[in-house]
Order: sequence, then C-alpha cells, then structure tokens
Amino acid sequence: MKIIHIGILGYGVVGTGVANLLKQKKQLLESRTGAVLNLKTIADIDITTDRGIDLGTTNLVSDANLIINDPSIDIIVETIGGETIARKFILDSLENKKHVVTANKALLAGFGNDLVKAARKNMVDLAFEASCGGCMPIIKALRESLVANDIKSMAAILNGTCNYILTKISRDGSDFEDALKAAQALGYAEAEPSLDIDGFDTAHKLAILNSLAHGMEINLKDIHVEGIRNITAVDIEFARSFGYIIKLLAIGKTHEDHVEARVHPTMISSSNPLSHVDGSMNAIAIDADATGQTMLYGHGAGMMPTASAVLSDIVDIARNIISGAKTRVPILGYPEDNIKPIPILPMEELYTKYFLRFEAQDHPGVLAKISGILGDNNISIKSVHQKGRKSNGKVPVVMITHIAREAWVQKALKQISKTDSVVGDPILIRIEETDQE
Ligand code: HSE
Repeated sequence: MKIIHIGILGYGVVGTGVANLLKQKKQLLESRTGAVLNLKTIADIDITTDRGIDLGTTNLVSDANLIINDPSIDIIVETIGGETIARKFILDSLENKKHVVTANKALLAGFGNDLVKAARKNMVDLAFEASCGGCMPIIKALRESLVANDIKSMAAILNGTCNYILTKISRDGSDFEDALKAAQALGYAEAEPSLDIDGFDTAHKLAILNSLAHGMEINLKDIHVEGIRNITAVDIEFARSFGYIIKLLAIGKTHEDHVEARVHPTMISSSNPLSHVDGSMNAIAIDADATGQTMLYGHGAGMMPTASAVLSDIVDIARNIISGAKTRVPILGYPEDNIKPIPILPMEELYTKYFLRFEAQDHPGVLAKISGILGDNNISIKSVHQKGRKSNGKVPVVMITHIAREAWVQKALKQISKTDSVVGDPILIRIEETDQE
C-alpha cells in the first residue's frame, strides 16, 4: 500500500484532534483511502506537555522546518492559527511543493488570494474544509456538490460563541457580559473574544464562502460587520413578541452585477429553521436555483468536529496523490481565469426591513415626531408598539418598518437622536425574511 506522509504544524487543540483521529481511525482511513496515512512528524514550541496520545513512531519536534523541509512529507496540516508565523509556514510549505491543509479562516480571509496563487504556481492543493462551520461539509458542498447551481443566497450561523450567548440571553434573560463569561468558561470563544462577539470571525468565514459561491476573489474588506455587544434581553423579548428570533447571521446574496455580504444581528421568523439552531451549534441555509433550499447543521468548533473536517481534506489530497491527479478541484471552485472581481453592495444601498427601538420621552406628540421624521425620509412604518412607562418616565417605543433603504434609515435615526424626544442611541436590527414570508 502507498504511504502518504503527513506533518502537523501546531500541537494545540486542533492539532491534537487531528493526531488523535489519524491514530484512532488508522484502519478505517486506510480502507477508505487505499493508502497508509502516516503521521510522520508534529512540530510545536511545547514538546513536553502530555496530550494523552500514544505517538508511536511519530516524531515530536520544536522546529517546524523539520517538517516543511522534509522531502518525504506530502501533506502539511497547519493548526497554529494567527496570521504571521502560520502564513510564513504555509507559504514555505507551498513553495516546497507540499499540499497544505488549514483551518485558519482569519489567514484565508485576509491573505487567501496570495496563498491560492502560491499553491497554483507550485501545482499543489490548499484545502480548508475546517475553516468554515467546523465539521459541516460546506466547502465541499459549494465547490463540488452544488456546481450545477447558481447560488442565490446563503444565510448562516457561523460563530458558536455568539450563538451560545444569544441563546443564553434569550433563555435566561442573562446580561451580555455574564453570557460571554459562560461561553468562555465552556471554551467556545476565541483567545481574543472580540473576534467572535464583534462579528469578525463570522466575516472571515463569509469572505471564504462568498468567494466559493460566486467565483470571486476573497474579499474581506468590503463585508459589513456588526457584532452582538448591543443585543439585550429587551430586544430579544420584543423580537419574540413579533414572532422573530435574533441571530448573528452571515448573509450572502447574488444580484445581477454585485453581491451582498454582510454580518450583523438579524431578526428571522421563528418559523425559519435557522431560528431553531441554538447553543454553540452552527448552520447554513443555501438557496440555489436547481436545488432550492439546502441546509447543513453541525458543530462549528471543537477538537474532534474540526479534526474530522481536516481529515476529509487529508483524504481528498491522498486520493489525488494515489490517482496521479494534481489540483483536480480548483481551490476557490473556479479555475483562476474564471474568477471575477464582483463588487460587494455598499451597506447604505441595502434595502431591507428594520426593527427600531427608541427610549422615548413620555410626552404628547413624541410618537408623531419620530414617525414624522421616518416619513420625511421615505420610511414607511408597518407597526408601532409602545410598552408601559418606566420609573424614569421613559417609554420604549418599537417600530417595524416596511422595506427601506439603509441610507434613509441611518439618516432618519441621526435626525431622531438629535431631537429631545428620545434619549440615547436608537437600536436598529435588520429583519431578514425569506421569499415565502
Ligand atoms: N470561536 C469560533 C466559534 C470557533 O465560536 O465558533 C470556530 O471558528
């Protein structure tokens, strides 16, 4: 049987999971691949901590170059994370004609186009199934399974930390900080929690998925990103009373000459299947022209779910090596010459429905003033709800709009904030409805 030699850079949670799965599933992988997947070397700066794995003949070294420059190694798995040393190691590996597997979504979102170019130049594969949605096979779905489809839209929950926090606030009425602490205690959050809660991790994943869905270069910088810091139990409760659930969604939509790509807290109907994705789970709903709606649901993070996705890439590459097929599937799903610079719609040009909440003074004429300003800016109100007066004399006023242009809404909110009718900044949450709603 052919032996495929593998090296792992980084022996942290994901690296340990990959090593574990390669050892545990040796027989299954051999029988499915028709080759021996030999974990030859692991490199990490910490080579003393016991990870609980019997490494057998696998070398554990502290110098990554012993893997990158080892002529016998076919596939290098990067599980270091971050955008500096990991980027250098991946580029060096590609230059040395190694196939690379990575879960590093931040690196791919920021520098993926360069990595893809380097892989193409060296005629090797760059695989990243674990970068988006953990074990959900979304990369393969977009790149291979749905090739005969125009992808009309994608809506996804891609950050377990945010989904856990929103679920916790919704269920227990916890405040944001307590819910974040609980997510951190469970090990969901990134080392820097801002990556999760301010929406950047989700945006990294959307940048990758958008590229695969539409045949465009990876474009992170034009994605509109908002996180969940301002979401409170009050808004979740209001949402519920209108039949909506609040989720941090990654939304990608195709239009004739541009795409939408945005990450923000979103109200979706409680009949939308994504509204039932709770806790740290991830899900993606894809609306494509031949298939209609398709949905994937699964663990978006965690040692073994992520390792499972990494192993699927390793086996894909091993199968290519065995069959002599080089770079059979284009890395971004389209051959390089067919990748187009498709612009992302600027946020101010978006048309959608809005949930607006104001802390209004309880004076006669206040409601008329707020709705007057909305009307002057072309914004049509679908419904208005006012809750009982608070002890401080303020009343929460909630309005749901019909479809309006983002620029009009932002302008109106600025004007309303300047009046003495409201205190504090208004809350804006976009509403996403499917064609059926
Ligand atoms: N911190 C991420 C999450 C891990 O919470 O989903 C996977 O990218």
